[in-house]
Amino acid sequence: MRTTETSDLWWKTAVIYCLDVKTFMDGDDNGIGDFDGVASRIDYLNELGVTCLWLMPFYPNGGRDDGYDITDFYAVDPALGSFGDLVELVRTAKDRGMRVIADLVVNHTSDRHPWFRASRSSTTNPYRDFYVWRDTEPPDTSDQVVFPDQEDSIWQLDEKTGEWYLHNFYRQQPDLNIANPKVQDEIAKIIGFWMELGLDGFRVDAVPFLIETKGIRKADTQGYGDPHEHLRALKAFMSRRRGDTILLGEVNLPYKDQVAFFGGTDGDELTMMFDFPLMQQLYLSLARRDAGPVADCLRKRPVIQPHTQYANFVRNHDELTLDKLTDEERQEVFDAFGPEPEMQLYGRGLRRRLPPMLNGDPRRLKMVYSLLFALPGTPALFYGEEIGMGENLEVPGRMAVRTPMQWTSGKNAGFSRTQPSRLVAPIVEGPYGPAHINAASQRKDPESLLSFITLLAGRYRECPELGMGRYEVLDHDAPSVLVHRCTWEQLDGDVASTVLVHNLGPEATEITVTLEGVDGGTDIVDLFSDLELSTESRGRLTVPVEGYGHHWLRIHGPNDRRLR
Ligand code: GLC
Repeated sequence: MRTTETSDLWWKTAVIYCLDVKTFMDGDDNGIGDFDGVASRIDYLNELGVTCLWLMPFYPNGGRDDGYDITDFYAVDPALGSFGDLVELVRTAKDRGMRVIADLVVNHTSDRHPWFRASRSSTTNPYRDFYVWRDTEPPDTSDQVVFPDQEDSIWQLDEKTGEWYLHNFYRQQPDLNIANPKVQDEIAKIIGFWMELGLDGFRVDAVPFLIETKGIRKADTQGYGDPHEHLRALKAFMSRRRGDTILLGEVNLPYKDQVAFFGGTDGDELTMMFDFPLMQQLYLSLARRDAGPVADCLRKRPVIQPHTQYANFVRNHDELTLDKLTDEERQEVFDAFGPEPEMQLYGRGLRRRLPPMLNGDPRRLKMVYSLLFALPGTPALFYGEEIGMGENLEVPGRMAVRTPMQWTSGKNAGFSRTQPSRLVAPIVEGPYGPAHINAASQRKDPESLLSFITLLAGRYRECPELGMGRYEVLDHDAPSVLVHRCTWEQLDGDVASTVLVHNLGPEATEITVTLEGVDGGTDIVDLFSDLELSTESRGRLTVPVEGYGHHWLRIHGPNDRRLR
């Protein structure tokens, strides 16, 4: 039964990998990555252990927000290839057993989308109500903007009709009017369209903004009701067509508000959500070299329905947001990992990748990635993390972490054979440049980060208790060490249980924990080293941990036949 359950709920033990087609691999050497290029690297991703590919927006767009400003939801950006090329890529990924999901960006369109062009043409145009308009002067909304360096209001006056339209993001990204049934139908149609082309689900952009009715005239929201009903309807629509598709939502809210997006006791809204609170506490823990913030956060994390899931991440494509920390906590993280103003963004985040933040310390880096895979939930990687890429601070804003993938030490990092001046984005230079950090050399080096992350992905897949099970944070006396235990009682009665130990501090230490329900004399096997231990009476276990060390300790009960 175990195999069936994990494969039916595939997202609960998936290894997700996010990439931007245009910066991943250039198949035709014009300087822009493309579908063909990604297809040629599917075996690399398969070897790494990726089971679910997340493609960032690949649709025609207005060029304002790196593809998150779409001009046609039913097409692909011709710079990346043709529809045929995309389908070949999806088919190649599936041949290697990988699922493919893509960004669903339907909170807004580009202002160049034909719907918006029509909408702004007159107050009586049939598309007028596809967007959110107001005819009175808006109040000061400067505290609500997402991009404070570029915008000071979420309303933009449109000269032609003398009314203001809502844009939570850039002014070139007018918000769609979710209360309009025609818009709702279009969103379902978009989902259905890409599912027919083989996608297994979506990473849903900006979900709280998408479903809320802020700014929509009262009269126009009648019939819309509870915004969560809309998410529920979308999920039901997808499940009717194909039961194993997922919605992975971007919902950066505190747990108490976030949990509702799973759909309450039925778990019938988003299948998964990124754990933004945990990610932010992780950086606080790293800055303090103290496991406390992560441990407290895990203890507070709501228990969710068995078919829903948290996705864990260390880094994504945006600024590393620290918006949910207090001002003092955020300052601690800034001081530790991004003290220069050029490293910070929007006053709330960092535009750096992890390795430079940790001064490239390999022990600490490996510990963080071990923790990423060991956290209860599903791990998600951003391309280049597996080789320890750095950022390019010369590139403005968020684009600092969206530089071309570093394949080799050769020209243009092996990403493209074009002239460097024609590259879609500049390559990272300096100590994190391709001469030092590239996939080709790391795949031949058993000590490399790439080899280590490949091993982590494999071990994670062998330990379904991490993705499927319940967990507890264990008490002990060493403040720098996080100890948690994941346990999964399988349908056939077998129990899989692993104790995960991560030292966020540089000093070697020792921890003693009590393992509930475990007898004395039980074998405890480290999945990453030769360390074999045994419990003392009443399940007491003492474990030595090196500075920035980690252990995945499987509790080998008498019936556990898994490989040690
Ligand atoms: C999400 C994306 C971000 C984008 C924004 C607007 O937050 O992650 O990159 O700018 O939505 O679409």
